Amino acid sequence: KEIVVSGIRSTGNLHLGNYFGAVNNFIKMQDEYNCYFFIADLHSLTTHPTPADLHNNVKQVLIEYLACGIDPEKSTIYVQSDVPEISELYLYMNMNAYLGELERSTSFKDKVRANPDNVNAGLLTYPVLMAVDIIIHKATKVPVGKDQEQHLEMARTFGNRFNRLYNHDLFPEPYAFSYSDNLIKVPGLDGKGKMGKSEGEGNAVFLSDSPEIIRKKVSRAVTDSGPTQLNQLKPEPIQNLFDLMKIVSSEETYNFFNEQYNSMNIRYGDFKKQIAEDMIILTAPMREKIQEISADSLYLSKVAKQGAEKARESAQKTLKEVREIIGFKPF
Ligand code: TYM
Repeated sequence: KEIVVSGIRSTGNLHLGNYFGAVNNFIKMQDEYNCYFFIADLHSLTTHPTPADLHNNVKQVLIEYLACGIDPEKSTIYVQSDVPEISELYLYMNMNAYLGELERSTSFKDKVRANPDNVNAGLLTYPVLMAVDIIIHKATKVPVGKDQEQHLEMARTFGNRFNRLYNHDLFPEPYAFSYSDNLIKVPGLDGKGKMGKSEGEGNAVFLSDSPEIIRKKVSRAVTDSGPTQLNQLKPEPIQNLFDLMKIVSSEETYNFFNEQYNSMNIRYGDFKKQIAEDMIILTAPMREKIQEISADSLYLSKVAKQGAEKARESAQKTLKEVREIIGFKPF
Protein backbone atom coordinates (compact mmCIF):
# COMPACT_ATOMS: atom_id res chain seq x y z
CA LYS A 1 0.00 0.00 0.00
CA GLU A 2 1.20 3.48 -0.82
CA ILE A 3 2.15 5.58 2.18
CA VAL A 4 0.36 8.80 3.01
CA VAL A 5 1.46 11.50 5.47
CA SER A 6 -0.12 14.79 6.39
CA GLY A 7 -0.37 17.07 9.40
CA ILE A 8 -1.96 20.21 10.70
CA ARG A 9 -0.27 22.74 12.94
CA SER A 10 -1.69 22.92 16.44
CA THR A 11 -2.48 26.61 16.47
CA GLY A 12 -6.18 26.53 17.37
CA ASN A 13 -9.42 25.07 16.10
CA LEU A 14 -9.76 23.62 12.61
CA HIS A 15 -11.58 25.77 10.06
CA LEU A 16 -13.31 24.97 6.80
CA GLY A 17 -10.05 25.57 4.91
CA ASN A 18 -8.33 22.83 6.91
CA TYR A 19 -11.35 20.62 6.45
CA PHE A 20 -11.76 20.87 2.70
CA GLY A 21 -8.07 21.33 1.91
CA ALA A 22 -6.90 18.46 4.06
CA VAL A 23 -9.06 16.49 6.51
CA ASN A 24 -11.80 15.62 4.06
CA ASN A 25 -9.19 13.88 1.92
CA PHE A 26 -7.62 12.19 4.97
CA ILE A 27 -10.93 10.51 5.72
CA LYS A 28 -11.35 9.23 2.19
CA MET A 29 -7.76 7.98 1.95
CA GLN A 30 -7.92 5.84 5.09
CA ASP A 31 -9.34 2.77 3.38
CA GLU A 32 -7.06 2.86 0.38
CA TYR A 33 -3.64 3.74 1.80
CA ASN A 34 -1.33 3.29 4.76
CA CYS A 35 -1.98 6.65 6.42
CA TYR A 36 -0.07 8.69 9.00
CA PHE A 37 -1.90 11.79 10.23
CA PHE A 38 -0.22 13.90 12.85
CA ILE A 39 -0.50 17.07 14.87
CA ALA A 40 2.37 19.42 14.02
CA ASP A 41 3.19 20.78 17.44
CA LEU A 42 6.90 21.22 16.71
CA HIS A 43 5.96 23.52 13.85
CA SER A 44 3.77 25.55 16.19
CA LEU A 45 6.82 26.42 18.31
CA THR A 46 7.88 29.10 15.80
CA THR A 47 5.28 31.37 17.41
CA HIS A 48 6.25 30.58 21.03
CA PRO A 49 3.01 29.29 22.56
CA THR A 50 2.78 29.08 26.36
CA PRO A 51 3.02 25.51 27.72
CA ALA A 52 -0.69 25.54 28.58
CA ASP A 53 -1.72 26.78 25.13
CA LEU A 54 0.58 24.29 23.43
CA HIS A 55 -1.04 21.38 25.20
CA ASN A 56 -4.60 22.58 24.76
CA ASN A 57 -4.11 23.21 21.07
CA VAL A 58 -2.65 19.76 20.48
CA LYS A 59 -5.56 18.23 22.34
CA GLN A 60 -8.06 20.26 20.35
CA VAL A 61 -6.66 19.14 17.00
CA LEU A 62 -6.67 15.52 18.16
CA ILE A 63 -10.31 15.86 19.22
CA GLU A 64 -11.27 17.45 15.92
CA TYR A 65 -9.38 14.87 13.85
CA LEU A 66 -11.40 12.15 15.55
CA ALA A 67 -14.64 14.14 15.36
CA CYS A 68 -14.19 14.52 11.60
CA GLY A 69 -13.90 10.78 11.19
CA ILE A 70 -10.21 9.95 11.17
CA ASP A 71 -10.25 6.43 12.53
CA PRO A 72 -7.39 5.30 14.79
CA GLU A 73 -8.06 1.71 13.79
CA LYS A 74 -7.36 2.54 10.15
CA SER A 75 -4.83 5.37 10.34
CA THR A 76 -1.87 6.15 12.55
CA ILE A 77 -2.74 9.34 14.43
CA TYR A 78 0.08 10.88 16.46
CA VAL A 79 1.57 13.99 17.97
CA GLN A 80 4.74 15.08 16.16
CA SER A 81 6.72 15.73 19.36
CA ASP A 82 6.00 12.16 20.54
CA VAL A 83 8.31 10.96 17.76
CA PRO A 84 11.81 12.24 18.61
CA GLU A 85 13.20 10.52 15.51
CA ILE A 86 11.70 13.41 13.55
CA SER A 87 13.91 15.91 15.37
CA GLU A 88 16.99 13.81 14.76
CA LEU A 89 16.39 13.46 11.04
CA TYR A 90 15.63 17.19 10.92
CA LEU A 91 19.16 17.86 12.17
CA TYR A 92 20.70 15.72 9.42
CA MET A 93 18.54 17.21 6.70
CA ASN A 94 19.37 20.75 7.80
CA MET A 95 22.99 20.14 6.73
CA ASN A 96 21.88 19.98 3.11
CA ALA A 97 19.30 22.76 3.03
CA TYR A 98 20.69 26.06 1.84
CA LEU A 99 20.01 29.59 3.03
CA GLY A 100 19.18 30.87 -0.44
CA GLU A 101 16.50 28.31 -1.20
CA LEU A 102 14.99 28.60 2.27
CA GLU A 103 14.81 32.38 2.00
CA ARG A 104 13.04 32.10 -1.34
CA SER A 105 10.12 30.11 0.12
CA THR A 106 6.97 32.21 -0.26
CA SER A 107 5.57 31.16 3.10
CA PHE A 108 8.83 32.27 4.75
CA LYS A 109 8.68 35.62 2.98
CA ASP A 110 5.02 36.04 3.99
CA LYS A 111 5.85 35.33 7.62
CA VAL A 112 8.79 37.73 7.63
CA ARG A 113 6.53 40.44 6.26
CA ALA A 114 3.76 39.70 8.76
CA ASN A 115 6.06 39.40 11.75
CA PRO A 116 9.45 41.06 11.21
CA ASP A 117 10.34 40.85 14.93
CA ASN A 118 10.26 37.07 15.01
CA VAL A 119 12.36 35.80 12.12
CA ASN A 120 13.84 32.82 13.96
CA ALA A 121 15.90 29.96 12.55
CA GLY A 122 13.02 27.53 13.07
CA LEU A 123 10.89 29.60 10.76
CA LEU A 124 13.60 29.56 8.11
CA THR A 125 14.02 25.78 8.28
CA TYR A 126 10.29 25.07 8.59
CA PRO A 127 10.25 23.39 5.14
CA VAL A 128 13.06 21.05 6.24
CA LEU A 129 11.04 19.87 9.22
CA MET A 130 8.02 19.45 6.99
CA ALA A 131 10.06 17.42 4.51
CA VAL A 132 11.23 15.19 7.36
CA ASP A 133 7.63 14.61 8.51
CA ILE A 134 6.97 13.14 5.10
CA ILE A 135 10.15 11.29 4.18
CA ILE A 136 10.60 9.69 7.60
CA HIS A 137 7.72 7.37 6.64
CA LYS A 138 8.78 7.27 2.96
CA ALA A 139 5.42 8.69 1.96
CA THR A 140 4.52 9.37 -1.67
CA LYS A 141 1.13 11.06 -1.27
CA VAL A 142 0.52 14.13 0.87
CA PRO A 143 -3.06 15.43 1.08
CA VAL A 144 -2.78 19.21 1.52
CA GLY A 145 -4.34 22.45 0.32
CA LYS A 146 -2.97 24.62 -2.45
CA ASP A 147 -0.89 26.74 -0.05
CA GLN A 148 1.42 23.78 0.68
CA GLU A 149 2.41 23.03 -2.90
CA GLN A 150 5.76 24.78 -2.71
CA HIS A 151 6.62 22.97 0.51
CA LEU A 152 6.09 19.66 -1.27
CA GLU A 153 8.43 20.74 -4.01
CA MET A 154 11.05 21.51 -1.38
CA ALA A 155 10.47 18.13 0.28
CA ARG A 156 11.26 16.45 -3.05
CA THR A 157 14.37 18.59 -3.45
CA PHE A 158 15.70 17.70 0.01
CA GLY A 159 14.90 14.00 -0.30
CA ASN A 160 16.47 13.77 -3.75
CA ARG A 161 19.52 15.68 -2.60
CA PHE A 162 20.10 13.21 0.22
CA ASN A 163 19.67 10.30 -2.19
CA ARG A 164 22.19 11.80 -4.61
CA LEU A 165 24.71 12.85 -1.97
CA TYR A 166 24.92 9.34 -0.52
CA ASN A 167 24.12 7.53 -3.75
CA HIS A 168 21.14 5.67 -2.31
CA ASP A 169 17.50 5.34 -3.33
CA LEU A 170 16.24 5.87 0.18
CA PHE A 171 13.51 8.49 -0.09
CA PRO A 172 10.76 8.27 -2.74
CA GLU A 173 9.34 11.53 -4.12
CA PRO A 174 6.27 12.85 -2.28
CA TYR A 175 3.54 14.72 -4.15
CA ALA A 176 0.68 16.88 -2.95
CA PHE A 177 -2.59 15.02 -3.33
CA SER A 178 -6.28 15.81 -3.63
CA TYR A 179 -9.21 13.76 -4.92
CA SER A 180 -10.37 16.86 -6.79
CA ASP A 181 -8.65 17.80 -10.05
CA ASN A 182 -6.76 20.66 -8.43
CA LEU A 183 -5.44 21.31 -4.96
CA ILE A 184 -8.05 23.21 -2.99
CA LYS A 185 -7.95 26.80 -1.82
CA VAL A 186 -10.89 27.72 0.40
CA PRO A 187 -11.44 31.49 0.42
CA GLY A 188 -12.06 33.42 3.63
CA LEU A 189 -14.89 35.80 4.43
CA ASP A 190 -12.87 39.00 4.29
CA GLY A 191 -13.19 39.38 0.54
CA LYS A 192 -9.54 38.71 -0.22
CA GLY A 193 -7.43 35.61 -0.16
CA LYS A 194 -7.68 32.29 1.64
CA MET A 195 -9.39 31.26 4.81
CA GLY A 196 -6.87 31.22 7.64
CA LYS A 197 -6.44 31.63 11.34
CA SER A 198 -4.02 34.49 11.07
CA GLU A 199 -5.97 36.48 8.47
CA GLY A 200 -8.03 38.35 11.02
CA GLU A 201 -11.08 37.86 13.19
CA GLY A 202 -14.17 36.64 11.38
CA ASN A 203 -12.36 35.49 8.24
CA ALA A 204 -12.48 31.81 9.16
CA VAL A 205 -15.43 29.58 10.00
CA PHE A 206 -14.39 26.96 12.53
CA LEU A 207 -15.84 23.46 12.73
CA SER A 208 -16.61 24.17 16.38
CA ASP A 209 -18.45 27.46 15.72
CA SER A 210 -22.06 27.54 16.91
CA PRO A 211 -24.83 28.19 14.38
CA GLU A 212 -25.25 31.73 15.72
CA ILE A 213 -21.56 32.50 15.23
CA ILE A 214 -21.58 31.05 11.72
CA ARG A 215 -24.62 33.16 10.79
CA LYS A 216 -22.99 36.26 12.23
CA LYS A 217 -19.65 35.71 10.48
CA VAL A 218 -21.20 34.99 7.09
CA SER A 219 -23.63 37.90 7.34
CA ARG A 220 -20.62 40.18 7.84
CA ALA A 221 -18.73 38.83 4.83
CA VAL A 222 -17.60 41.53 2.43
CA THR A 223 -19.86 42.14 -0.61
CA ASP A 224 -20.52 45.11 -2.92
CA SER A 225 -23.58 47.00 -4.13
CA GLY A 226 -24.51 44.27 -6.62
CA PRO A 227 -23.94 43.46 -10.29
CA THR A 228 -24.36 46.35 -12.71
CA GLN A 229 -24.39 44.34 -15.95
CA LEU A 230 -25.85 41.05 -17.09
CA ASN A 231 -23.42 38.11 -16.90
CA GLN A 232 -20.61 40.27 -15.58
CA LEU A 233 -17.33 38.96 -14.23
CA LYS A 234 -17.58 38.65 -10.46
CA PRO A 235 -15.32 40.88 -8.35
CA GLU A 236 -13.07 38.96 -5.92
CA PRO A 237 -15.21 39.18 -2.74
CA ILE A 238 -18.27 37.93 -4.63
CA GLN A 239 -16.35 35.22 -6.46
CA ASN A 240 -15.01 34.07 -3.08
CA LEU A 241 -18.52 33.71 -1.69
CA PHE A 242 -19.57 31.75 -4.76
CA ASP A 243 -16.50 29.54 -4.32
CA LEU A 244 -17.52 28.93 -0.72
CA MET A 245 -21.05 28.11 -1.80
CA LYS A 246 -19.74 25.66 -4.35
CA ILE A 247 -17.97 23.84 -1.52
CA VAL A 248 -20.73 23.79 1.09
CA SER A 249 -24.00 23.87 -0.90
CA SER A 250 -25.66 21.64 -3.48
CA GLU A 251 -25.12 22.17 -7.18
CA GLU A 252 -28.77 23.23 -7.62
CA THR A 253 -28.42 25.90 -4.98
CA TYR A 254 -25.20 27.15 -6.52
CA ASN A 255 -26.71 27.28 -10.01
CA PHE A 256 -29.80 29.06 -8.68
CA PHE A 257 -27.83 31.91 -7.11
CA ASN A 258 -25.39 32.03 -9.99
CA GLU A 259 -28.27 32.59 -12.40
CA GLN A 260 -29.70 35.23 -10.09
CA TYR A 261 -26.35 37.00 -10.13
CA ASN A 262 -26.09 36.79 -13.90
CA SER A 263 -29.59 38.20 -14.34
CA MET A 264 -28.90 40.93 -11.75
CA ASN A 265 -31.63 39.66 -9.43
CA ILE A 266 -29.45 38.44 -6.60
CA ARG A 267 -30.14 39.48 -3.03
CA TYR A 268 -26.92 39.15 -1.09
CA GLY A 269 -28.84 38.77 2.19
CA ASP A 270 -30.54 35.59 0.97
CA PHE A 271 -27.36 34.39 -0.72
CA LYS A 272 -25.35 34.68 2.50
CA LYS A 273 -28.12 33.16 4.59
CA GLN A 274 -28.09 30.12 2.34
CA ILE A 275 -24.30 29.76 2.64
CA ALA A 276 -24.51 30.04 6.43
CA GLU A 277 -27.31 27.47 6.72
CA ASP A 278 -25.44 25.01 4.53
CA MET A 279 -22.29 25.50 6.60
CA ILE A 280 -24.31 24.81 9.73
CA ILE A 281 -25.77 21.60 8.30
CA LEU A 282 -22.33 20.46 7.21
CA THR A 283 -20.60 21.12 10.55
CA ALA A 284 -23.42 20.04 12.90
CA PRO A 285 -22.43 16.36 13.19
CA MET A 286 -18.79 17.29 13.77
CA ARG A 287 -19.72 19.85 16.39
CA GLU A 288 -21.68 17.21 18.22
CA LYS A 289 -18.82 14.73 18.08
CA ILE A 290 -16.33 17.34 19.27
CA GLN A 291 -18.43 17.71 22.44
CA GLU A 292 -18.65 13.98 22.88
CA ILE A 293 -14.97 13.22 22.40
CA SER A 294 -13.74 16.18 24.48
CA ALA A 295 -15.22 14.54 27.55
CA ASP A 296 -13.28 11.29 27.06
CA SER A 297 -9.67 11.95 28.11
CA LEU A 298 -8.99 8.28 28.53
CA TYR A 299 -9.83 7.60 24.89
CA LEU A 300 -7.69 10.54 23.74
CA SER A 301 -4.64 9.37 25.64
CA LYS A 302 -5.12 5.84 24.35
CA VAL A 303 -5.28 7.05 20.75
CA ALA A 304 -2.20 9.27 21.14
CA LYS A 305 -0.19 6.52 22.79
CA GLN A 306 -1.07 3.86 20.27
CA GLY A 307 -0.39 6.29 17.41
CA ALA A 308 2.98 7.32 18.80
CA GLU A 309 4.07 3.70 19.04
CA LYS A 310 3.14 2.93 15.45
CA ALA A 311 4.67 6.16 14.13
CA ARG A 312 7.91 5.59 16.05
CA GLU A 313 8.23 2.09 14.73
CA SER A 314 8.12 3.36 11.16
CA ALA A 315 10.37 6.36 11.91
CA GLN A 316 12.96 4.24 13.68
CA LYS A 317 13.24 1.96 10.69
CA THR A 318 14.05 4.86 8.39
CA LEU A 319 16.37 6.52 10.86
CA LYS A 320 18.39 3.33 11.27
CA GLU A 321 18.95 3.29 7.52
CA VAL A 322 19.83 6.98 7.49
CA ARG A 323 22.41 6.61 10.24
CA GLU A 324 24.08 3.75 8.42
CA ILE A 325 24.07 5.60 5.13
CA ILE A 326 25.56 8.73 6.71
CA GLY A 327 28.34 6.61 8.22
CA PHE A 328 27.60 6.48 11.94
CA LYS A 329 28.99 3.16 13.07
CA PRO A 330 29.69 1.46 16.37
CA PHE A 331 33.37 0.84 17.19
P1 TYM B 1 -1.58 24.33 8.22
O1 TYM B 1 -1.61 23.90 9.64
O2 TYM B 1 -1.44 25.77 7.91
O3 TYM B 1 -2.86 23.80 7.45
C1 TYM B 1 -3.23 22.45 7.55
C2 TYM B 1 -3.82 21.96 6.26
O4 TYM B 1 -4.96 22.75 5.90
C3 TYM B 1 -4.79 23.26 4.59
N1 TYM B 1 -5.39 24.59 4.50
C4 TYM B 1 -6.18 24.98 3.48
N2 TYM B 1 -6.57 24.35 2.37
C5 TYM B 1 -7.39 25.02 1.53
N3 TYM B 1 -7.81 26.29 1.76
C6 TYM B 1 -7.44 26.96 2.86
N4 TYM B 1 -7.88 28.19 3.08
C7 TYM B 1 -6.56 26.31 3.78
N5 TYM B 1 -5.99 26.68 4.96
C8 TYM B 1 -5.27 25.61 5.37
C9 TYM B 1 -3.29 23.31 4.36
O5 TYM B 1 -2.98 23.31 2.98
C10 TYM B 1 -2.84 22.08 5.08
O6 TYM B 1 -3.00 20.94 4.26
N6 TYM B 1 3.08 23.12 6.98
C11 TYM B 1 1.74 22.58 7.20
C12 TYM B 1 1.66 21.50 8.25
C13 TYM B 1 2.60 20.39 8.04
C14 TYM B 1 2.49 19.34 7.08
C15 TYM B 1 3.62 18.52 7.27
C16 TYM B 1 1.54 19.02 6.11
C17 TYM B 1 3.74 20.18 8.72
N7 TYM B 1 4.35 19.06 8.28
C18 TYM B 1 3.82 17.36 6.48
C19 TYM B 1 1.74 17.88 5.33
C20 TYM B 1 2.88 17.08 5.52
C21 TYM B 1 0.85 23.72 7.62
O7 TYM B 1 1.29 24.71 8.16
O8 TYM B 1 -0.46 23.51 7.44
